[in-house]
Amino acid sequence: MKSYDIAVIGGDGTGPEVTAEALKVAEAAAKKFGFKLNWHPYDFGGERYLKTGEVLPDSAVEELRKFKAMYLGAIGHPQVKPGILEKGILLRLRFELEQYINLRPVKLYRVQDCPLKDKGPEDIDFVVVRENNEGLYIGTGGFVFKNTPHEIAVQESVNTRRGVDRCLKYAFELAKKRRGGKPWKGLKPEDVKDGKTGQLTLVGKTNVLTFEFDLWERAFHEMGAKKYPTVKRDYAHVDATCMWFVKNPEWFDVLVTDNLFGDIITDLAAMIQGGLGVAAGGNINPEGTSMFECMGGSAPKYTGKNVINPIAAINAGAMMLDFIGESKACAAIEAAVVKIINTKIKSLAAGKMGYGTREVGDLVAAAI
Ligand code: IPM
Ligand code: MN
Repeated sequence: MKSYDIAVIGGDGTGPEVTAEALKVAEAAAKKFGFKLNWHPYDFGGERYLKTGEVLPDSAVEELRKFKAMYLGAIGHPQVKPGILEKGILLRLRFELEQYINLRPVKLYRVQDCPLKDKGPEDIDFVVVRENNEGLYIGTGGFVFKNTPHEIAVQESVNTRRGVDRCLKYAFELAKKRRGGKPWKGLKPEDVKDGKTGQLTLVGKTNVLTFEFDLWERAFHEMGAKKYPTVKRDYAHVDATCMWFVKNPEWFDVLVTDNLFGDIITDLAAMIQGGLGVAAGGNINPEGTSMFECMGGSAPKYTGKNVINPIAAINAGAMMLDFIGESKACAAIEAAVVKIINTKIKSLAAGKMGYGTREVGDLVAAAI
């Protein structure tokens, strides 16, 4: 029997609760498809930091490097100053394990979960590929004349050709393969005639960020023209993208953008797909250790109450199984989630599901 070793950080707040459900569902899928999952738990997070002063020891990063996949519940503790755990655990792992892609599938499962008027599941089905190792997140910059009236704060967006190229490559490959060669329905007839099957939208700000997005745009068109003739290239400014996510989300197939813009547009995208109760993502290093997480934070006010929606965490688990090569298990979880949402769950919001956290996990596991 195939078996996989997976590191698990339940983390803070509701993290451990939703993680338990994600693992429960992944186990059910493993049983059905005949493979084994060996979980390796780690206790990093706010509690451990408050107790020991340790955020993430260097040795842990080296240990985690040995896994192909890891699962993360949530990071963030009300008694810990914002930034310490986010930077010390989440961003550190993203950077040191070179998880250079932040992959965010955006899919609406049920019309009533969408806040947009006249939009349904057929309109909201796209993927955002966010660069996850560079840009404004790199942390370079500094102060001059700090705490004086002449204070200057500089925060730099760092974009390397290598970093941009590897991100674009991932996005083009995804746009090429996403529908198994079948043309995406948003393409124009002339594009289909021309052999196009998918669309990749570069999201930037070429009208103002004339250095950063000059590089991105050149790299985008060079790579697309040379290597991905079946992918239609499209460009949108980031502000306009926000507008279109609300007005015409059906215009998007795959999007690619830098770290900060990706952070912002994926929160908006999470809302149009039904909220943080369903939104999941992967921090991907295709050649190394990838980390899967749900988008909702640690939600301290719901902690321990068995009310938080575990579906986002379950979806993150499904993405993880897909990543390790168990795509049938991933598809089965997705189908089970769709079924349970459409037949059982009243609302995707915490406390309003009509079931508890554990019961939703049980329902999805049973539907597999
Ligand atoms: C996310 C989060 C993180 C980010 C925070 C917690 C540092 O918002 O995963 O989108 O900004 O990337
Ligand atoms: Mn974010």
